[in-house]
Amino acid sequence: MLQLKVIDTADVPAVLALQAQCYAPQFHESADAFEAKLRATRGLHCSFLAMMGEQPVGYIVSLPVDDDQLPTLDAPEWTPARAPRTLYLHDLAVSPLGREQRLGHKLVEQVLRRARDMGLQAVALVAVQESGAYWERLGFTEAAAPLAEGLCEKLKSFGPDARLMRRPLVAA
Ligand SMILES: CC(C)(COP(=O)(O)OP(=O)(O)OC[C@H]1O[C@@H](n2cnc3c(N)ncnc32)[C@H](O)[C@@H]1OP(=O)(O)O)[C@@H](O)C(=O)NCCC(=O)NCCS
Repeated sequence: MLQLKVIDTADVPAVLALQAQCYAPQFHESADAFEAKLRATRGLHCSFLAMMGEQPVGYIVSLPVDDDQLPTLDAPEWTPARAPRTLYLHDLAVSPLGREQRLGHKLVEQVLRRARDMGLQAVALVAVQESGAYWERLGFTEAAAPLAEGLCEKLKSFGPDARLMRRPLVAA
């Protein structure tokens, strides 16, 4: 049976194992980078691990951010946002074992519900590994150029093909 549980820092080894199955090495982040985001969002319930029985098969990590703030790839520290309006969907992965069950969609829907509960107005993400079409089907569109200079620099940390994508949130 498939279940979603709120991710705790104790789940980081499981997250790293899934990351290794789902992402090319240049996108791998350290335990410190995940732990910093989980610590900064403790109690917000915006990051989830998907379990198939005892087996972790997917995760989503997200965090509320201040306007135009987003962590660089593998940022070892993260300070909680002061006046967030956007949920930054930092990372989504579903292992080959968990695919073809709409699990990616379920994980995204779960954090969109949380974002609405938190009163946030938009969701943003950085699409990598040619995943843009996946996100477009979920209602995201590429952010229009020109981007603010600081945002461009952060986007560059995800490689030359990374695309910043956004989606407004409307009350369900
Ligand atoms: C992207 C990912 C999370 C999708 O998970 P999933 O649970 O298999 O996907 P869902 O069940 O939600 O959706 C499946 C649909 O998306 C499509 N899809 C999956 N990955 C896609 C991609 N990279 N680009 C475009 N479409 C994709 C599937 O073909 C399927 O299409 P269908 O509905 O027409 O059959 C998973 O493939 C993964 O972990 N990929 C590696 C990590 C990654 O690239 N994450 C996103 C980076 S920002």
